[in-house]
Amino acid sequence: MQIENMKSKAKFISLEGCEGVGKTTSLSFVKKHIESLGHTVLVTREPGGTPLAEEIRNLLLDKREEKVDASAELLLMFASRIQHIENVIKPALSDGVWVISDRFVDASYAYQGGGRGLGFERIEAIEKWSMGSFLPDLTLLLDMSVEEGMARTRLRGDSDRFEDEKITFFKTIRKAYLKRAEKSMGRIKIIDASPSPELVQQAIKKELESCL
Ligand SMILES: Nc1ncnc2c1ncn2[C@@H]1O[C@H](COP(=O)(O)OP(=O)(O)O)[C@@H](O)[C@H]1O
Ligand SMILES: [Mg+2]
Repeated sequence: MQIENMKSKAKFISLEGCEGVGKTTSLSFVKKHIESLGHTVLVTREPGGTPLAEEIRNLLLDKREEKVDASAELLLMFASRIQHIENVIKPALSDGVWVISDRFVDASYAYQGGGRGLGFERIEAIEKWSMGSFLPDLTLLLDMSVEEGMARTRLRGDSDRFEDEKITFFKTIRKAYLKRAEKSMGRIKIIDASPSPELVQQAIKKELESCL
């Protein structure tokens, strides 16, 4: 086999799950693990990841008097995502840089589709129109009870506009994430996020093997 063929193509990995499940904690593990195998890694996040997308993030997360319409929220998420894909993710991948994102498109299905009650159909239409078939190679969905996740979030301190929502909102999000995983044809791997960080990392390492 020629050397070029043996070199693995740069991959795009996203981490998903409700607040406090350990996405950011796991992200640094995933980064270190992939770097230890000799790859260059770019860590990014959604909403955000480019200057304009980070401005949209602030608009979305800030607490405000005005009611934020669910469809407006969804479209802002997609606007920031397209900037992120076109200006950061695709250029990195074509340079051979692996990309790990703290949340990606599945979060729109969970938060706006589930949490805000917009359903999956409209999101599918917007996704197809704006992103075509661009998806992560692998998505790690960290899953645990909403109560446990919220307890972890509380330990972390200050909250944003999403984190101030009630427990039923997050239960709907968890359900939507799991439904999305079921429909993902193996792309989304569910990781039990409730055990110790060491055990969560072991499970993640196992799922990463399929991608490396
Ligand atoms: N497996 C774990 N067991 C116990 N605490 C954890 C675990 N993973 C993360 N934490 C802690 O829970 C809190 C939330 O984790 P974080 O990675 O910020 O979650 P997220 O990014 O998904 O909101 C942090 O204080 C973190 O140190
Ligand atoms: Mg986080």
